[in-house]
Amino acid sequence: MRSPPAAAELSPMAVHGVAQTRAAVLGLGAYAPPKVLTNDDLARLVDTSDEWITTRTGIKRRHVAGPDQATSDLAVIAAQQALDAAAVRAQDLDLILVGTATPDMLFPATACLLQERLGAPQAGAFDLLAACSSFVYGLISAGQMLTSGLARTALVVGAETLSRLVDWKDRTTCVLIGDGAGAAVLGASDTGRGIYAGMVGADGSAGNVLKVPAGGSRMPMTREAIDRKLHRGYMDGQAVFKLAVRTVPGLIRETVARAGWTMEHVDLIVPHQANLRIIEAMASQLHLPMEKFVVNIQEYGNTSAASVPLALFEAVQGGRIHDDDRIVLAAFGGGFTYAACALVWGK
Ligand code: UT7
Repeated sequence: MRSPPAAAELSPMAVHGVAQTRAAVLGLGAYAPPKVLTNDDLARLVDTSDEWITTRTGIKRRHVAGPDQATSDLAVIAAQQALDAAAVRAQDLDLILVGTATPDMLFPATACLLQERLGAPQAGAFDLLAACSSFVYGLISAGQMLTSGLARTALVVGAETLSRLVDWKDRTTCVLIGDGAGAAVLGASDTGRGIYAGMVGADGSAGNVLKVPAGGSRMPMTREAIDRKLHRGYMDGQAVFKLAVRTVPGLIRETVARAGWTMEHVDLIVPHQANLRIIEAMASQLHLPMEKFVVNIQEYGNTSAASVPLALFEAVQGGRIHDDDRIVLAAFGGGFTYAACALVWGK
């Protein structure tokens, strides 16, 4: 892992004798579109096989947005579910932060669309783009706003429709991705639960390994750009794989240390679901059994910013996370970005 010059840290230490206010997750929501593509479905589109996809990635199925579903349509369902679970009214939200690389449009931000649809007129709203790391970046950022007093209640969403960016004729990328959304409502807590440490980092020199070149100010969406498929996602898979395995285990260790814990304290790690082999490599480097990692890539593929909150939601629903458990969320993605967050579960 590179030393973290661009890394930011949340204060992990409690003030002696005084309960420290932390940002805690009050409720979660998640949504995946009903349309499912199996590996066999993809083998009818490109030269691939269930055997290759399963052994190289762990993916069996992925959910794909319908033609009428944009990112905000997925996000609003997950967000409303999180609000209901938290028993928080949308009109009481101070902040809506959406992590996405596939906004409905360049602007207004998807967070503003969500603010209107949820009915949250008091909430500040903005999008955050750190590719697959966006949700964890967002959770840490919103957590800071809560503990600094800038907001009392925040909604953080990771939502993507990467199926719109992928080249469905490129077998090296189309088999990997899926669409989805996950959401968390955050509130201030004095119970000893909540976020203990967060780290965000980036290596911009590796920006070329994962990108969508066209559609921005450098290369507007021209017919030539479309003909050259530059509006589609490009990925150097092996380079991303190596960066992830080189960076994330050290990031997790450092975040756990900044929380004041040791690795033995950690009950569960919720990693970005990009490739089962990446998660296995992390487990091996951290000398942890796979049981300590949440894995749901077989059902959703890589849903980018939605992957960590989707996995977190399923782990809680499945009874794998209980109050006072020590949890680490960890993500990496285009940028190259990475982020991890250590929290004690519960309100
Ligand atoms: O969210 C963060 C973004 N993405 C990632 O984290 C992805 C990280 N990288 C990966 O997960 C892996 O590198 C991939 C799954 C993308 C690729 O796995 P790999 O084991 O690194 O395969 P490879 O790129 O070395 O390709 C091996 C072979 C190649 O054929 P040749 O040159 O050996 O004949 C590929 O053309 O597999 C071929 N191949 C496929 N074959 C069947 C590539 N994609 C497919 C496919 N089906 N879908």
